[in-house]
Amino acid sequence: HPPTIQMEGSSVLSRASCRAKGGAPGFKVAILGAAGGIGQSLSMLVKMNPLVSVLHLYDVVNAPGVTADVSHMDTGAVVRGFLGQQQLENALTGMDLVIIPAGVPRKPGMTRDDLFKINAGIVKTLCEGVAKCCPRAIVGLISNPVNSTVPIAAEVFKKAGTFDPKKLLGVTTLDVVRANTFVAEVLGIDPREVNVPVVGGHAGVTILPLLSQVKPPCSFTPEEINYLTDRIQNGGTEVVEAKAGAGSATLSMAYAAAKFADACLRGLRGDAGVIECSFVSSQVTELPFFATKVRLGRTGAEEIFPLGPLNEYEREGKERVSRKHSEGGLLHQ
Ligand code: NAI
Repeated sequence: HPPTIQMEGSSVLSRASCRAKGGAPGFKVAILGAAGGIGQSLSMLVKMNPLVSVLHLYDVVNAPGVTADVSHMDTGAVVRGFLGQQQLENALTGMDLVIIPAGVPRKPGMTRDDLFKINAGIVKTLCEGVAKCCPRAIVGLISNPVNSTVPIAAEVFKKAGTFDPKKLLGVTTLDVVRANTFVAEVLGIDPREVNVPVVGGHAGVTILPLLSQVKPPCSFTPEEINYLTDRIQNGGTEVVEAKAGAGSATLSMAYAAAKFADACLRGLRGDAGVIECSFVSSQVTELPFFATKVRLGRTGAEEIFPLGPLNEYEREGKERVSRKHSEGGLLHQ
């Protein structure tokens, strides 16, 4: 029997390539950090996406195991594994979409600031690989602190001469997913019917749910607004504390990232009206990067929407973000 794990360099790889070439049209997606808590669930969910024809799973540890496991799923995508930095370039070559959940997660007592030093270095190396091997790919960055890793990735791409602001997307979908869930709970309706725009950044008070723009239209008492804003802003900490040392959000994050990846792929396919919130290079406020609703198309975030009418509470929240930024707080928080 041939080896069943389609790792880089294995004999099954060539047959898999044939299937990928001759098979249904679809997109090539790489997950960097695929063996992690987010990465494993995300690999499974992306393998289930019918828009994906090739799925590359890269990590510095345990990539063969995850690849073997996920590759047994009887869905269309051909799965290949890549282990260690010497295989990074092959993992990235030809990719349309690169999702990055590589890095260390937050432990109790750690702020996103503590993560910064470690994850900044990891993101830098991975983005250098993207610039070299798939400079036209859309990059969805999950590694925290997103408020800082996205600007770092932008600098790497600028240095390499490949920066396209439409293609660098900080993944803030989990904030929206949480907001939809918590708002639905308060309203007593199905979360699938709820859409809450969440703008700003991806840490603490920089997370700004726009509760005045919730779909379907509804209104909240001041107590509900305080409760919801606080819970949405601290959803990450709620999970970190409940896991008590075992990491941060992985399952809901993988779900959110899979949702985001699917939106990116529908945009690449040319679907109309694909709108998600994302932390992007932006002129919507005075801040260089800001999460807002964006329209995803064939070239990435093709349209960045303005914030829309804000109420007094939301304007104050936005002012707080600006102040944090001018104090140097937005970048590292
Ligand atoms: P984890 O520790 O379970 O997995 C991280 C994976 O990255 C590990 O498999 C590790 O081997 C891999 N890795 C480390 N260095 C690497 C490198 N140089 N190249 C490739 N892979 C590398 O962590 P988890 O829980 O999956 O979290 C990953 C990241 O996602 C963390 O930075 C976390 O803070 C962030 N996160 C972001 C969220 C968001 O909403 N954007 C929500 C939750 C977590």
